[in-house]
Amino acid sequence: MSYSEPVPNRSSSNMSSSSRSNATPILHAQGLGKQVVSGDRPLTILRDLALSIAAGESVAILGASGAGKSTLLGLLAGLDTPTAGELSMFGHSLGKLDEDGRAQLRAGRVGFVFQNFQLLPTLTALENVLLPLELSPTVEAESRGREWLERVGLGERLDHLPKQLSGGEQQRVALARAFVTSPSLVFADEPTGNLDPATGKRVIDLLFDLNHESGTTLVLVTHDHALAGRCQRCLQLDDGRLAPLDLDEVKA
Ligand SMILES: Nc1ncnc2c1ncn2[C@@H]1O[C@H](COP(=O)(O)OP(=O)(O)OP(=O)(O)O)[C@@H](O)[C@H]1O
Ligand SMILES: [Mg+2]
Repeated sequence: MSYSEPVPNRSSSNMSSSSRSNATPILHAQGLGKQVVSGDRPLTILRDLALSIAAGESVAILGASGAGKSTLLGLLAGLDTPTAGELSMFGHSLGKLDEDGRAQLRAGRVGFVFQNFQLLPTLTALENVLLPLELSPTVEAESRGREWLERVGLGERLDHLPKQLSGGEQQRVALARAFVTSPSLVFADEPTGNLDPATGKRVIDLLFDLNHESGTTLVLVTHDHALAGRCQRCLQLDDGRLAPLDLDEVKA
């Protein structure tokens, strides 16, 4: 199956589930399962999980601590492999690709913000942001990195090492690193988890500006209702499966 890059579609914010189902999904999971061995016992984290996300959608995944949200995000991004089921990204079956193949599929078009940031400790903020551009260097790479650090409010922190940055600043470096390649698909695990409300709002605005202007698909794990409330769809992960979640009912 071939996949064409998403065309920004401003009517998408009102996209009904029926019109969504007509679009080629950018991500599709069926019967997805993840089991690990914990001690000497098998532990089922995800079971028979189904999910389809169309290009340009914004989807929030909520759930209790330990429900398996980070595990799911890692699987959807092809960073980890499922123990059951099928998964495709950009129309390519991830099960048919090895680790290098999955990395090639992601290169330049998938951004990932880890819950624990995963910045390289010996590299400066700017060097960390430039890492994803190494595979496809451009003459503007450095200025793009600077530009993104400025957009997340860290223009004055370019040469700081991660240990010289606060948790929220490290989180924003991780966001800049995820955006620097202008990806069409961004996964972010608690992207506002370490930010104060004002900085969190700035990051949320940035995410949705990208979603609106460039059609960037957003798959966000979050406990933050300000963030989840801006997404087109909210899903709750419970007992290893996803179910639609109505945020208004949660608040009521
Ligand atoms: N490799 C592993 N071996 C054993 N247990 C694991 C492994 N990976 C994850 N788990 C367990 O699976 C469960 C889900 O973990 P995960 O990190 O996905 O949860 P989460 O929903 O992201 O939680 P939080 O909101 O606290 O970040 C946890 O109970 C965790 O201890
Ligand atoms: Mg987590």
